[in-house]
Parts: sequence; structure tokens; C-alpha cells
Amino acid sequence: MLVSSPLSGKWTASLCLLSTLCTLWTPAVSVKEHDFKKCDQSGFCKRNRVFADNAGASSSWESPYNILPESRSFKDGQFQAIVLKTINAKGDTVRLPLTVSFLESGTARVTVDEEKRQNKEIELRYDSKVRKERYNEAEEWVVVGGLGLDKEATVGFEDKSQTTVKYGPSSAFEAVIKLSPFTIDFKRDGESQIKFNDRGLLNVEHWRPKIEQPETEKKEGEGDGGEKKEETTLENKEGSSSSGEDESTWWDESFGGNTDTKPRGPESIALDISFSGFDHVYGIPSHAGPLSLRETRGGEGKYSEPYRLYNADVFEYILDSPMTLYGAIPFMQAHRKGSSVGVFWLNAAETWIDIIKAKDWRNPLSLGGSSKTSTHTHWFSESGLLDVFVFLGPTPQDLTKKYGELTGYTAMPQEFALGYHQCRWNYVSDEDVRDVDRKMDKSNLPYDVIWLDIEYTDEKKYFTWDKHTFPDPIGMGKQLDNHGRKLVTIIDPHIKNAEGYQVVTELKSKEHAVKNKEGSIFEGWCWPGSSHWIDAFSPAAREWWATLFKYDSFKGTMKNTWIWNDMNEPSVFNGPETTMPKDNIHYGGWEHRDVHNLNGMTFHNATHHAVKSREPGELQRPFVLTRSFFSGSQRVGAMWTGDNQAAWDHLHASFPMILSQGISGFPFSGADVGGFFGNPEKDLQTRWYQAGAFYPFFRGHAHIDSRRREPYLAGEPYTSIIAAALRLRYSLLPSWYTAFHQAYVDGTPIIKPMFYTHPGEEAGYDIDDQFFVGNTGLLAKPVTEQDKVTAEIWIPDNEVYYDYFTYKTIPTSKGKRAAIDAPLQKIPLLMQGGHIFARRDRPRRSSSLMKWDDYTLVVTIGRDGGKSAEGDLYVDDGESYDFEKGQYIHRKFVLNGEATTISSTDAESRDPSSVKEGDWMKKMHDVKVDRIVIVGAPASWAKKQATVESEGKSWPASLDYSAAAHGRASFATVKKVGARIGADWKVVVS
Ligand code: GLC
Repeated sequence: MLVSSPLSGKWTASLCLLSTLCTLWTPAVSVKEHDFKKCDQSGFCKRNRVFADNAGASSSWESPYNILPESRSFKDGQFQAIVLKTINAKGDTVRLPLTVSFLESGTARVTVDEEKRQNKEIELRYDSKVRKERYNEAEEWVVVGGLGLDKEATVGFEDKSQTTVKYGPSSAFEAVIKLSPFTIDFKRDGESQIKFNDRGLLNVEHWRPKIEQPETEKKEGEGDGGEKKEETTLENKEGSSSSGEDESTWWDESFGGNTDTKPRGPESIALDISFSGFDHVYGIPSHAGPLSLRETRGGEGKYSEPYRLYNADVFEYILDSPMTLYGAIPFMQAHRKGSSVGVFWLNAAETWIDIIKAKDWRNPLSLGGSSKTSTHTHWFSESGLLDVFVFLGPTPQDLTKKYGELTGYTAMPQEFALGYHQCRWNYVSDEDVRDVDRKMDKSNLPYDVIWLDIEYTDEKKYFTWDKHTFPDPIGMGKQLDNHGRKLVTIIDPHIKNAEGYQVVTELKSKEHAVKNKEGSIFEGWCWPGSSHWIDAFSPAAREWWATLFKYDSFKGTMKNTWIWNDMNEPSVFNGPETTMPKDNIHYGGWEHRDVHNLNGMTFHNATHHAVKSREPGELQRPFVLTRSFFSGSQRVGAMWTGDNQAAWDHLHASFPMILSQGISGFPFSGADVGGFFGNPEKDLQTRWYQAGAFYPFFRGHAHIDSRRREPYLAGEPYTSIIAAALRLRYSLLPSWYTAFHQAYVDGTPIIKPMFYTHPGEEAGYDIDDQFFVGNTGLLAKPVTEQDKVTAEIWIPDNEVYYDYFTYKTIPTSKGKRAAIDAPLQKIPLLMQGGHIFARRDRPRRSSSLMKWDDYTLVVTIGRDGGKSAEGDLYVDDGESYDFEKGQYIHRKFVLNGEATTISSTDAESRDPSSVKEGDWMKKMHDVKVDRIVIVGAPASWAKKQATVESEGKSWPASLDYSAAAHGRASFATVKKVGARIGADWKVVVS
């Protein structure tokens, strides 16, 4: 079996543990690109690219889509019409219902469907349960709000060639819907921003029946995978193939030895979307490439393949590539000075996106004629509805907010989840786990969570333990709990097909598994060997899944056990492109083809709800990590960027990927610290921890064949440097938690790229290796290159910047690159003037042990000399849902009066008597502001004193002042402030 299956290196490695065949294993060195389709190996991708090429090549090209004028109607914020697609020279048409909805949020939504199909063919081939209409349930999984129609939207103008609708804030938005050919031009303040079908590439492959030819008429043709084509179609029988369309990929399609039967035939949808005057587009994660997306139709510095979104387990993925990865968020943003706009392509099928940029000349005849670049994108999905949301900004913040209104914001995590996670494939026994736990403590390395990969199970049977290596999971869990720590165990969606394994017995008997095209239970290969897959689209399957996590069912787990969902693309080792056949059948009769990119999210969602319901009352916020994701996954947990490598370029690639996640509504993300495959040299490992301390999700992880690399093994000076990076993360946890709260409230990314914070600075649009952390003004650029001892940080504005560690004022100005010393022990980290952020400085072993510690506030005086420093702090119990009932502290800190008063007030101006304090809030009465450090404090403070006023009392506090010296800024420290963190207070310096 080992040799005859298409094994990936990691699979054989896993079997190693169990067999003496280990020595046979030879790791692959790089992604097997040929295991994944290129555009011209994917029928619909190839067809749509050819369609674009043909359209572009002909000066007389006309899109064959026209609105039937009399079909138009407009009511309650919704425009409806029938688009007619002319399908042959005779002028036959198919009818495509169009709806343009104008939403209260100012977002517009365009859907194009196809009038119901009458597909007897499919009914005959399978059973009548198999759906034949276009998949229209993505919305049910993805959209959680924001669909209210804008009743104020009005038709501004209408004649026989167009309808213009005014909508959005102060009716500043406008959709100009042209009839013939059908196009839409979305404008803001009269200026074109986004155009649909401007290049005429709208393509809805309408349903057509498959006609089996009599034996004698069969023609032979080569399919993509060398398959013989044995059928022809109604259209080519009628001679309409004179359109020149390549029909060879209409029906069965083969790739890598697998044949996709495609019973419904060609049904892709495609549309060109142009961003007028924009030369930067961002988003559509996950890809290992730059944040600002590249062009995709060849040429220097450009890709020649489209960006692909088809969730897959891409073994040893390559960098700087538009190749698909594990998750998909089809949300793209375009940005230029003064405008950010975006589109969200709500479709869960395989999707490709071409990007080109072109100069359009404004008035080329006049001497002063200027050119601007526009970005032209071309989207194609294999099946489903055409369903696109249009956001007209104008700021990047508007986009993340409005996108989140539709798809939901980041779930508020437990605080431990922001601490450091220690993982490897695998901790080999419960004693090993206890030992790592002890050694982390001994070396003063704080951490919150230790993880168990697949080897803890009894032969990869999830919900079981290997009795020999993990005889005492509860004892292990208790030791962790005593140190305030958690355990995460992996649970994958493939269920081992083994005699006597109750989980699989139930999965089969209750029919909760995904089916194959014949309608029987699908069988494939993954870690356990022969397996079946839970169909988490099914409500009954999800209910059953929840029963498996109950403490008396998944014995050995405790309240501090959380879950890791992996391989949920799904990864099927012997499947096409390492995933499930597209003609598999899911709940509701939908083909896997229709729902593929949603699959990972449905499983993640099922687990989230399962762990949430382990006990009655939803006491704790669940933590579930996922590898595969889609728009909306942010509501149920965290993600990581999959199997990277212990190499500098992979470290470097992690920030663009994580920044892209952040602006795409799923900021709770991280990369495997240290690199998954291989063995990092010590300096790489150290730099990776320094970088990881700035990942929203911070986990060290390593492949089973890599050498042990817990940070205490690194030796000096590395272990101490890593400890310092961990401590930095832990001391800043209050600020990280506040940033997560912001993401939970309005979708603000946790770490923010330059274009997002400084949208007017064009020089920052390409920068993706430095970022701001939350609202702290902390500007970081972790070193990601070997032997680098300085970092050049691009300065986005004329604020004052201080070095975080030395308080040195950075001699620089807007647009310059400041050289920051960064020997191995130093993280390039600046503080922008004008902020106040919170820390907890007392070193502890885990975040929960810091729960009642006092705070340090850091104030950075800006260029206005201290008139307006500001910041906030959000705190709750870090565990439960009580924050939803007002059990939280949210403070706003302000420095004003020419740096004479620092005050704390309720950030939401709540009336304190409106909240009845629960236990946690009462206990927080003992938690105080300990110190306030004011970096850049004015010289006049040398002779001043500090008085604290709070809750009707006032008392003096000591104020130490250090004058500026040797490039270091002046700073002052107010000590033993003693005011309650939850109360209003004022520190007056006079
Ligand atoms: C996958 C995961 C990796 C994990 C391994 C074994 O490769 O991406 O993180 O260690 O499976 O479960």
C-alpha cells in the first residue's frame, strides 16, 4: 500500500511511527505543482480565459448579454430585470434573472441566476435527490446580517438604454445599469469606481442537455487528462458549435487519473470587474505572495496563472505564487489616494481571478493629458449563482466594517488564546507533555497552551487516546490547569473506517457522511488510511458531532481542553488534487463542486458549536483552530497558514499572508513559528519567535521528522532572547486583547498594513513587511532576513517616533526609511507619538496568572507636545460570555492640557450604575494602575509633581523625570498611581 498510493511525504512519515518502514520514507522537496491544476487544465478556467482573449482580440466584440427593457422593475431598494443571453447565430436566448439590491449599509448586491433547469438527464443518472439548479445556499452559511434594503434608494434616471439608481449615504452612490450590452457602472460622487462587464466578459454557461451519440456517430477526442470524449451535444448537433467554443471540456473531465463526471455539464459564471483609476488591489487570501496583488497574464514581475481559490492541502507550498492554498476569502479591495472600494464574490465553487493593470489616458490629445492606471479583474467560478457585493468605501475602514456587517466579525476569543501556544507533531506521551510544561517553567518561558497532534489517538481514531502513550490524560490536564494552562487536541474530519470503532459505526448507520456520485458513502484515504468524511452541511450530522465532544464521551478531556481542526479542505490523499471528487454529494443533494470552498468552514463551525455545548449554559468561549476557511470563518475561531518551511523566505512570507487575512475580515491568524518542515538554524528560530510575538495567533509547531525545538533547547543566548520575545508578547497582552475587541466590534484588523492606516500615502501601498498593532501606535518590522542587523522602517507621517526599548527619538520624517539597530536580541519596534497603551509588566508563567495584575500605561508624547495623546483598554474576564451582559471594563485614556492631565473615563460613556457588577468586576476593584510612563515628557516636568484624583479622593504620586540624553527622549514615570483600572481617575501634573 505504501508504494502504490499517491502518498505525500508527510503521510508516510505518519505511518513511520507505527512501522519499521520508516527507512523507506524520503521527503519530497517542494510542492508537487503537477498535482494541482493550472488554468488550462481546468475546463472552465481555460474556456473563460479563451473567452477573454477572443473578446480582447476583436475590435467588434459585443457582449451577448442584454437586459430585456420591459422586464425592468424597481421597488423597495431592489432593481429586477431579465438578462437575455444570445446563445447562437439564430438569436436563441436564455433568460437570466438579475437582481440588484441596494442595502441600508450602502453596499450593493448583484445576483444573476438562471431560470430553473429541466434536467431529466441528471434525474435518470442519479436519483431525483440530486440538485440541478445553481447552488444558492452560500448566503446561508456566510451572510449573518446587513441585508436590509435601502428604501431610500431611488431611480434617478431611466430611459430605454439605462436605469440609474441613487443610493447610499446622502445618495452619493450611483449604479448606472446599461441595457445593451448589460453593464453596471458604480459611481461615488459622480465618479466611476467599479465597472461590471465593461470588457464584455460576463459569461453564464447556461444549462444544456447532454446528448449521447449513437455508437456509429461517436467521434474521438482527447480530453485534458487524455480521456477519450465519446459524446457530443445538442448544440453541436444543431451546428451552433460554429461559435468556435471548445466543447472538449463541457462534460467529463479528467485530471491526474481522476474523472469528474460533471453530470450538469458546463455551468461556470464569469464577470470582468474593473476598478477605475486604481492600481492596487488587495485581499482574496490565502496565497503566498505580496499583499498588493500581482498581475496574472504574464510578463516581468507578473504571474502567468490567475489567482486560484480552491481550498487544498498543498504539500510544501511555494512562495510568491497565485496557487491556491488551504482557505479562501473572495473579497477584494482596490485602493488609491482618496478612495478604497471593494467587491465580495459570494461563490463557494472553484474560483480563479485574473488581474491586469492598464493605463487609461485622460484626454490624450491635450498636452497636459494625464494617464491613470486602472485594474481590470476577471473572475470565474465553476458553478453556482453570480452573486457579488459592491462596496464603495471611501476608506479602508469602511470596507472592513461593511464586509464584517455581512459576514460577521471576529469572535471574541478567550484571553489565553492570545498567549503563546507550544505545539509539535507530536508530543509523544502524557509524560512528555508534563515534562515540556515543567521545562518551559524552569526556563522562564511563558506559555498558555500545549498541543497534541494526531499521534495521541489510538491509531488515528479521533476521540480516543493511545492507551500506551497517553494512559493518564486527566492527570496531564490537571497539571496544566494548575499552571493556568490549556491543552488543544486535534480532531480531523476523516473518520477511520475500522471495525469496532463506534464513531465510524454511527457515522455510517446514521448516514452523516458525504456520499459519492453513486449515492453510497464516500471512501478515501487520509491519516488513518481508509476513511469516511462527516458531512457538516447536515444539521443532523452536526448535532451528532456535538455529542462526541461531551466530557463523558470524549473521555480524558476537561474544561481546559480545546480543539484543532485540520485537513478540512478536505484533504483526501488519493482524491483529485488531494481533495474530494467534485461529483460527491452533500446534504441537500448538492454536489461537492458547488460547496467545496465552504467545506472547511462547515466543519470548523460544527466543532465550534460542539465544544460550546459540552456543558449547559455556554459558559466558556470556545477555541478551535482551523486550517481551511471561507468568508465567515472568523466567527468561529482562528486559522493558521498551514505547512510552511523552516526557511527565511517562509518567515518573510508570513507577514503579507497575515496582513492579507487581517484586511479580509479574518485577522485571528498566524504562521507556524519556526517553520513546519525542516530544522531552523538558531538565529532563524529566534527571529521567528520575535516575529511570532506579533502574529495575532502565536504558535510554535514542527513536523514529526524535525528535531525537537522547544525554546529551552535552543541554548544561550537564543533561549533568553526567545524568552524576551515571549515576555514582550505577554506584557502587551492587554493591548492585544483590546485590538481583538476592536476586531470583534467593527472588523478592524489586529495588525494593520500601511495602506490601511495611511491611505493617502502612495509610497506605503506596496509595503507588507511592517505594520501597526491595534490602536497602540506600535509600529513593528520584525527581522525576517538572515544576518540582518538593521531594519529600515518606512515612516508614514510626520509624527514623532521612539524606539520601544531605548526611548531613542528616531531622527526621521515622513516618507523616509529610518534605520533601526536590530542585532539578534532586538526587535525593530517603534512607538508613534500621540498614543496611550496598556501593559502588564510582571513576568508570569501564563496569561491566566496575570489576571489580577496591575497595569502600566505608556504615554507617547507626539509632535504637538502632548495636547492629544489617546488610547483605550478593553478588559473582561477573558473566558465567559458575561461581557455580552456588560461585564467588562472599557477605558479611554487621554492626555491633554499641554501634557498636564492624564485621565481615564469610560470609553463608551456608560453610566456605571447601569451595570450590576458580577464577581469578576467586583474582583477587578483590586486591580490598579501601577505606573504611567510618559515618553517624551516636557522638560517642565522636571520640577513638577503628580496628584491622583479618583472616586472623590486625591493623593500624591511620585513623579520621576529623566531628561533627554544621547538621542534618548526625556521620559517620566508616575509611580504607584493606585487608581482602580475600572474607575474614572485623573493624574494632574503641576
Ligand atoms: C497537516 C497539518 C500539520 C499537522 C499534520 C499532522 O500537515 O497542516 O500542522 O502537524 O497535518 O496532523
